[in-house]
Amino acid sequence: MEELRQTELVVIGAGPGGYAAAFRAADLGKKVLLIDRDPELGGVCLNRGCIPSKALLHISKVMDEATNLKRMGVKYGKPKININQIRDHKNKIVSQLNSGLTQMANARKVEVIQGLASFISNTELKIQTETGNVSVAFGQCIVAGGSTSALIPGAPKEHPSVITSRTALDLEDIPERLLVIGGGVIGLELGQVYAAIGAKVSVVEYLPNLLPGTDLDLVKPLQRKLKKQCEFIQVSSKVTKVEPNKDSTLTVTIKNEKGSSTEVFNKVLVSVGRKPNTGLLNIEATDVKVNDHGFIQADAYQRTSVKNIFAIGDIIGYPMLAHKATHEGKVAAEVASGHPAAFDVRAIPSVVYTDPEVAWAGLTETNAKENNIPYEKGEFPWSASGKAIAMGINQGKTKILFDPETKRVLGVGIVGPGAGDMITEGALAIEMGADAEDISLTVHPHPTLSETVGLAAEVFTGTITDLYLQNR
Ligand code: NAI
Repeated sequence: MEELRQTELVVIGAGPGGYAAAFRAADLGKKVLLIDRDPELGGVCLNRGCIPSKALLHISKVMDEATNLKRMGVKYGKPKININQIRDHKNKIVSQLNSGLTQMANARKVEVIQGLASFISNTELKIQTETGNVSVAFGQCIVAGGSTSALIPGAPKEHPSVITSRTALDLEDIPERLLVIGGGVIGLELGQVYAAIGAKVSVVEYLPNLLPGTDLDLVKPLQRKLKKQCEFIQVSSKVTKVEPNKDSTLTVTIKNEKGSSTEVFNKVLVSVGRKPNTGLLNIEATDVKVNDHGFIQADAYQRTSVKNIFAIGDIIGYPMLAHKATHEGKVAAEVASGHPAAFDVRAIPSVVYTDPEVAWAGLTETNAKENNIPYEKGEFPWSASGKAIAMGINQGKTKILFDPETKRVLGVGIVGPGAGDMITEGALAIEMGADAEDISLTVHPHPTLSETVGLAAEVFTGTITDLYLQNR
């Protein structure tokens, strides 16, 4: 027999958007039911994305730093990799955070049901659980269903040697030759992890540059590093076919201007973007509008075209970032609870957690040029930073884009280790409407990498003493 339930607010999806929405709504006094098809809370980000990948990237970064010490007179032997222990370490981190989330849900009396939710109408849904179906009549709903890796036509959908970010993080083995299809965020982050643990990694990217859309000057230091770490990197090239061989290897067809070629790999990582999970929701049973790309349409209050249904995170569109989802989740919970709230941020920072890291917030030069947005720039090369030189990371840079009239910060871009931690100063400056002097006159501690933000502003104001500028 089907169980019938009634709840004030139901949240579909327990990723960083969904659990933030559920917890915030519970804190505001709502009775909340949180549904996820996974047994653990945390969604892709915690279980198969941001967190496990960062655990692995940390290991690859430390290994690389240790190797580089040889330039400074300290030489280590070849590292011994125990892939089982690395996997256990990563899984332990994920479990620790999973149980933290469960404890927080319990403390807030948020009820969690594991199962696949699909709509029956604008006020009812069904949850398919392991023990049967549960029908839920809800007052309000926040859809935080997330996204899944996109696949390419011409590649087998299910093959043990064709992996996505989800399976790549299982670290099943170390493939001798790994092809990364798509030189975007996931491909480069995971490509570096696999290169560090001993795979021969190659990257094929369809567009002319890696991390398409990112300012080229920020990508260049990363590209230089990747060239040393990879077997080959091919841009302006498309993978059109991936054919399984009898011995579990794959023959990959790569096409570009020069023609077509084939290569054999032990595994391929498909990292060609992500698609919203709208298809799982039986959304057609509601009046919620979905656009041509399958994204649910939501306004600044996170409301869909149905007043009591909200949507947040990857399922409503780009950028597909955990921190965007979290903020949207809180807005949805607050609006649903009758509080005045809206998603009106000026800058959502982006971080590529490669080595070196690439980070930006607000306007980029690429974007400014494409849209004829006037800007002026202050740029500080890390080759003039004492801290960066001491750390042997002088290829980085920090740049700030300013409004030529108001001198306010429009955007910040950083490449170098720690860029992801430093970009927050840029995001705060944009949110606060800071101008060049607000930053240059803020005392930055010396010697730090964060100092380069202050120095980039000083370059712009012409007050810098750490560099000599001829055209002052
Ligand atoms: P992406 O959109 O960043 O990169 C996919 C790349 O694949 C593109 O550059 C595209 O030109 C290329 N491509 C597509 N088809 C191809 C083909 N047949 N052959 C060769 N190249 C091809 O997507 P990615 O890396 O899968 O990431 C998905 C989403 O996950 C992103 O939207 C990102 O926001 C999010 N993400 C963010 C992270 C972060 O912020 N650090 C980390 C991981 C994911």
